[in-house]
Amino acid sequence: MFAVPPNTVALTATPAGAHPALIAHEVAADRDRWRHLLRYDPSERFAALVERTAEQETWLMSWLPGQGTDLHDHSRATGAFTVVSGSLTERVVVPGRAFEALHGLTAGQSRVFGPGYVHQVRNDSPDPAVSIHVYRAARPAMGYYRLDPVTGLEPLPPVG
Ligand SMILES: [Fe+2]
Repeated sequence: MFAVPPNTVALTATPAGAHPALIAHEVAADRDRWRHLLRYDPSERFAALVERTAEQETWLMSWLPGQGTDLHDHSRATGAFTVVSGSLTERVVVPGRAFEALHGLTAGQSRVFGPGYVHQVRNDSPDPAVSIHVYRAARPAMGYYRLDPVTGLEPLPPVG
């Protein structure tokens, strides 16, 4: 074993240089940054902007039991989300392949996404859930999809 000299490790000068999952973890742990924004909306998943910089956006979301998204992408954005409390289920569908995967996430666990990543996030548990989401660049318009059992992913027309 040997020591790595400190000047050989590329340290990020700004938070935006850090991995989105690291940012999501840090914000999730720092409840003073977002606790005043937290609401639960019985009609739909709740989302509130925590922070916007030139490089990225950080969002707080809350999910009552049964609430979730439709299948969607985040255009060219990369990012990550971390579960703060409760549990969420992420369904990932790979374009061009008859493949989908379910990922169960509990508090402290994260998922990362990039351009072309298509997923659906739901709270399938009996308890509310809270999560922190980081989008880089700023949260773009989402593209929506349906999954045809024969032909696979089909983009849906843009809404409005
Ligand atoms: Fe998403």
